[in-house]
Amino acid sequence: MFVSNPPKDLLRRDVDAPIIKKKFENNYENVTYFGMPGPEMLDVKEWLDYLGFVIAVDNDLSALGVMNMTAASLKILDRVQFLRGDVESILVNWQDEDDEAPLRDSFDVVNLDFVGGIMGFGEDADHDKRVNAIRELLRHQRNETTSFIMFLTIGFREKHMDEYDRKLRHIGHELDKLGLDATPTIEWYFSHPPRHKLKVYVPYIVDEIGRANRFRLDMYKCFYYKGTNDIPMMHFVFDMEYSVENVSPERLGLRALLDCPLFIAHQDHVKACPNHPPPILGASP
Ligand SMILES: C[S@@+](CC[C@H](N)C(=O)[O-])C[C@H]1O[C@@H](n2cnc3c(N)ncnc32)[C@H](O)[C@@H]1O
Repeated sequence: MFVSNPPKDLLRRDVDAPIIKKKFENNYENVTYFGMPGPEMLDVKEWLDYLGFVIAVDNDLSALGVMNMTAASLKILDRVQFLRGDVESILVNWQDEDDEAPLRDSFDVVNLDFVGGIMGFGEDADHDKRVNAIRELLRHQRNETTSFIMFLTIGFREKHMDEYDRKLRHIGHELDKLGLDATPTIEWYFSHPPRHKLKVYVPYIVDEIGRANRFRLDMYKCFYYKGTNDIPMMHFVFDMEYSVENVSPERLGLRALLDCPLFIAHQDHVKACPNHPPPILGASP
């Protein structure tokens, strides 16, 4: 059963809560949460003032049992729907293992709070099922023209680092075509821990999937922290804004992607990672 720790508590309280508060200012009763709150519903508890309806997913029956008691103690049973099953298949099939569909057509706050990585788990054939689930989520959000905040928390393994490397090389080539020399920056990423590559890779694909569905990535932030048992984790915040005017919204600048700071969440404070890639040389395109 999931156990939280101080950096995770800090992110939930000091980073995520103010973002939700600001985004939905004064309209909280219409805010729908969809995610994995875990047995103690610590995120829902922390953000409760800013949430109207909660769709709580878990693939662990005992976690759902405890969650039910937690919701009762929070006196929110009348505004919670529990869904049983893998969040990935619920997003793809739009129903859970009991054939229940989400009671809302789209969501305002999505918390994909995984324990494992975004890729590189399970069989090779479905190693990208989490990316695919995000694609389906975006498709639903587009159909309802609903802007939303997506929190994504993942562990990471080395297994699919070659895909992250290929993406970095591709970004380097794209910048090269624009007359910018990104080689020292790309090399820096190759010689630093995987968390830095994830910091580029994950926003890159979320931006791509988002734009294909008319979403502009208005703001994003990347955090590294050590989860329970010192497991390295990444926490991302994505502010996805549905674009009324543009079928294909502006993409994230590649230079900005490489330059984006990585923050580290410690026990009681967050600070920018002191290791930063060298700036990209050349004039702005
Ligand atoms: C990290 S915990 C949730 C923590 C919570 N959001 C918080 O802020 O403290 C993740 C929960 O989701 C469940 N879970 C993990 N992977 C899942 C998946 N793929 N589909 C559905 N539930 C999953 C776990 O059983 C666990 O209860």
